[in-house]
Amino acid sequence: MQLRNSASGYGAISRSLHWITVFLVLIAWAVGTFGDVLPKGEARTTGLAVHIAAGLAVLVVLAVRLVWRATDPPPLPEPTTFGRWGDRASRLAHYTLYALLLLVPVVGIAVQFARGAPLPLFGLADIASPWTADRAFARSMKEVHEVLANALVILAALHAAAALVHHWILHDRTLARMLPGSGR
Ligand code: HEM
Ligand code: HEM
Repeated sequence: MQLRNSASGYGAISRSLHWITVFLVLIAWAVGTFGDVLPKGEARTTGLAVHIAAGLAVLVVLAVRLVWRATDPPPLPEPTTFGRWGDRASRLAHYTLYALLLLVPVVGIAVQFARGAPLPLFGLADIASPWTADRAFARSMKEVHEVLANALVILAALHAAAALVHHWILHDRTLARMLPGSGR
């Protein structure tokens, strides 16, 4: 499989960046949502560290992905019965997903700093909070973080459902050309 996209299909780099992002978002969301079942103490602290590492990795992969996308534009949409309006809707969904992939981790960092807590960088270093702790602000930021995270996962689920409609009902190559090793 070639590394770069062609006019009609995604290359290996774009596909890998897509599926790494999916994996990281699911880990961050699952640990964020269900982390409070962990007993307080070391287990909960480790859960939050894993959550933050996965969330920061989303941000790093997003940066790489946007730079890559600027130099290697995505393929043209597969022709479908929905025509131009279908293409516009899918482009809007993709841009909104990119915006949420940026906003959710950024607001997560704001939650951490509003608590006056340092930001751990994959266990390699910490960035001290530039703010003094403010519990009320931290609680509001956490709510915003949660709503945006849920919006990201719901939109991604609708986006995945659209991909399955393309595959099983419209019988086009939209899903196949994003899966590893096929669909060119
Ligand atoms: C795509 C990436 C991320 C997703 C999907 C995500 C999702 C979530 C979710 C669903 C919660 C639970 C909110 C609740 O139930 O109250 C949460 C909590 C939290 N997130 Fe994230 N998050 C992400 C990235 C980050 C990042 C990069 C940070 C950086 C510091 C962060 C910091 C936090 C903090 C401090 C909490 C509160 C945890 C607690 O009180 O135990 N998140 N996140
Ligand atoms: C957290 C989950 C997900 C996120 C954040 C996400 C995000 C994205 C984004 C931003 C694009 C646009 C790529 C570009 O710039 O060209 C894209 C494309 C695509 N995604 Fe996802 N995705 C997720 C999950 C999934 C899943 C589970 C599936 C399959 C069941 C899927 C199938 C596709 C397909 C087929 C395309 C190519 C669409 C086209 O050719 O127009 N995605 N995804």
